[in-house]
Amino acid sequence: MADLLGRNLLEPGDFSAEELAGLFDLADVIADAPADFDRRAVGKILATLFFEPSTRTRLSFEAAMLRLGGQVIGFSEAGSSSAMKGESIADTVRTVACYSDIIAMRHPKEGSARIGAIHSNVPLINAGDGGHHHPTQTLTDMLTIRRKMGRLDNLTIGLAGDLKFGRTVHSLINAMKIYPNIKFVLMSPEELKVPDFVKYDIQSGNGSTFVETTDMQGAMKELDILYMTRVQRERFFNEEDYIRLKDRYILDNDKMSYAKEDMIVLHPLPRVNEIAVEVDSDPRAVYFEQAKNGMFVRMALILSLLGIE
Ligand code: NCD
Repeated sequence: MADLLGRNLLEPGDFSAEELAGLFDLADVIADAPADFDRRAVGKILATLFFEPSTRTRLSFEAAMLRLGGQVIGFSEAGSSSAMKGESIADTVRTVACYSDIIAMRHPKEGSARIGAIHSNVPLINAGDGGHHHPTQTLTDMLTIRRKMGRLDNLTIGLAGDLKFGRTVHSLINAMKIYPNIKFVLMSPEELKVPDFVKYDIQSGNGSTFVETTDMQGAMKELDILYMTRVQRERFFNEEDYIRLKDRYILDNDKMSYAKEDMIVLHPLPRVNEIAVEVDSDPRAVYFEQAKNGMFVRMALILSLLGIE
């Protein structure tokens, strides 16, 4: 994995299919025997700069570094950083790069990770930049798909919910379009359709195609994967629109009855109402396993960007 040494991860397309495969192979090895890796990053420091709330992403990054024997510094809200005093992203990152070996940063503004990376002399990982991208969630999603389905090509992937503001949706499409024969079924209310930059992304893929529909039940039977998402309340301009749209797509046992026996349901979490709790006990619901995979793939990513064997 020496070729990832010192690189940044700003969007999934930053890594080639071969580099991704190497990362997933390593994540599989780690998942099988995590204790074998518990001294690999001794003496290394991860900085987590979270200007926006997070549970899984921040804690799985921190758990990943701690399980590798490294240490973690950082903040979990902008209010406890010098951003409150008006410090720029560039200056914050430049400073933190003096104290750490690798940085994971989440920020509400699109493009913030790229600004950070320009000013960092240690690898910077985008842990979510506004409604734009969230590449490590995508690594999590892809590792789960690979472990469950045994492949990353020839898949029909349904994405439902907030396809406009959902950065995990944009990143998953950006990543999966490079594999042969991927069909995306995009299910959302009219107001929450994928932005044009994502459609262009699909068209520039390896023969990937998409259809847009508002009919989730009708689409269920053809899906290999169903990727559910939360309506992104914090990115709406007014609360009435959020309330009107938030419960438009709810996955329940009735809808699951139309799906293939071996379809899998993914969700980046947190869930609000979009998956009924009754679905959790369906063996096809793998979102908590997906959350666990997130830690293993972040362990693999940290090791690779730091160039540790
Ligand atoms: C996602 C995010 O932050 O974009 N959460 C996560 O990182 N697992 C999805 C979401 O917040 O809806």
